[in-house]
Amino acid sequence: MNSSVPPPNSRLWEYTFPSFLLGISLIKLPQTTLKILFSRPFDLLFFNRWSDEWFHQIWQLVSLKEQPEEKRLTASGAKGTVIELGPGFGPSLEFYDKSRVSHIYLVEPNYSLHDRLRESIEKYGWQAKTTIVACGIEDDAGLSRAGVPKAGVDTVVSIQVLCSVPTPETIIPALYRRLKSGGELRIYEHILSHEETTRKLQKIYDFVWPYPFGGCRLVRPTDKLLVDEEFMGFSGTSSGWRDVVLDKVKGESKYSCIPCFYGVLTKA
Ligand SMILES: C[S@@+](CC[C@H](N)C(=O)[O-])C[C@H]1O[C@@H](n2cnc3c(N)ncnc32)[C@H](O)[C@@H]1O
Repeated sequence: MNSSVPPPNSRLWEYTFPSFLLGISLIKLPQTTLKILFSRPFDLLFFNRWSDEWFHQIWQLVSLKEQPEEKRLTASGAKGTVIELGPGFGPSLEFYDKSRVSHIYLVEPNYSLHDRLRESIEKYGWQAKTTIVACGIEDDAGLSRAGVPKAGVDTVVSIQVLCSVPTPETIIPALYRRLKSGGELRIYEHILSHEETTRKLQKIYDFVWPYPFGGCRLVRPTDKLLVDEEFMGFSGTSSGWRDVVLDKVKGESKYSCIPCFYGVLTKA
């Protein structure tokens, strides 16, 4: 028997896992609503503030899962000036190498996560070398105000964030332009499955998935977009990637509805 094909019960588990996470998100809904009602009731009028808090409550549970080795590798190879998109509670701060990193811009638009992010900065001793940037990576003005360099960046790190950014077709090429020649985009992302039935299920889950999970899409083919010359705007003026090393996460089922890949793309 081919050992890469899991037994049927495991296939069923992979197919139903997103519904388990959606169930958790529903359980967290009343708690979120009550928390906002008693602490800052005005925020109930703003869907984005309410949904940021909902994601915060869900992520506290979901992120308890042990961090895979591939996430550690994504952050530990960063060097120089780093932009990390969506650091969340800041688990990657444990993995960055202080002797190689000069500064990290932590671009996190969800204010509900900032207290825990500050705790991680203190816990891992990054106070002198980090700036929390309280806006989305698409907000050029916000990034400039916080001093995020427009070009010449050594490393951009994205760990499960490119699935959530609102307009990947402008944001991903813009991240590429911020990198210097030889700079690295280091990513750990989930993608549109390469397996047909799984892809169909992802499309069904994706009708509701973005609501609790902060705009995250299960159907984004990020692995393909990053090397698509037209999507990336690689033309006469831009020479593209010099090296692309992307791999699947070890031990993951091919039927996973949240299949992950990781790796490094080096700018020419
Ligand atoms: C699935 S969480 C991952 C958090 C963290 N990277 C981790 O691995 O634990 C996605 C993160 O991306 C952030 N995010 C969503 N949209 C973003 C945007 N437009 N720019 C930057 N970060 C964004 C969310 O607030 C959230 O913290």
